[in-house]
Amino acid sequence: MEKDIQKTYFSAEDIQNIVSRLGKQISEDYKDKNLLLVSILKGSIVFMADLMRSITIPCRIDFMSVSSYGSGTKTSGVVKIQKDLDINLEGYDLLIVEDILDSGKTLSYVRKILEARNPASIRICTLFDKPERREADVYAHYSGAEVPDEFIVGYGLDYDEKYRNLPYIGVLKPEVYGE
Ligand code: IMP
Ligand code: MG
Repeated sequence: MEKDIQKTYFSAEDIQNIVSRLGKQISEDYKDKNLLLVSILKGSIVFMADLMRSITIPCRIDFMSVSSYGSGTKTSGVVKIQKDLDINLEGYDLLIVEDILDSGKTLSYVRKILEARNPASIRICTLFDKPERREADVYAHYSGAEVPDEFIVGYGLDYDEKYRNLPYIGVLKPEVYGE
């Protein structure tokens, strides 16, 4: 796996610092709220696991799975719910936890359908943001780091469902894409 990586963008330690900062901020902002973290599978699973442990106030968690990508690196624009939430959102202060905000199509869709379920409030927390790539009108209240328009893998992020288990964030060698 390591041999496919061209360069490291964020080391495991860099990521831990980013996640700690986010967790601290969220713990302050939601101390008098009814926090529910909703992780968008599968990419945000590693981030979610670390973020929830850096949050020091009581919270609940739930998971949702949507598909927006095939096996390539470009968005298809088609978003489909694969697995819905278990918890009824009424009365919860919802924080959507996402790995990366790219075109924003996935999150603008997810946000819309969750808003319709009457949570007390709704915000987005993304680990990475690619602002140059934005097509949909969507804003992340909490953002770990901005990244340039390059395809990154690791720490939950995949290429063709692989590399999610890399403990750091890297860029793949061009030959891996087989183009
Ligand atoms: P969007 O709808 O274009 O914002 O796509 C967001 C989703 O695309 C993310 O949740 C990721 O699963 C995937 N994605 C976008 N950019 C990358 C990347 O650089 N590496 C891996 N997955 C990515
Ligand atoms: Mg993905």
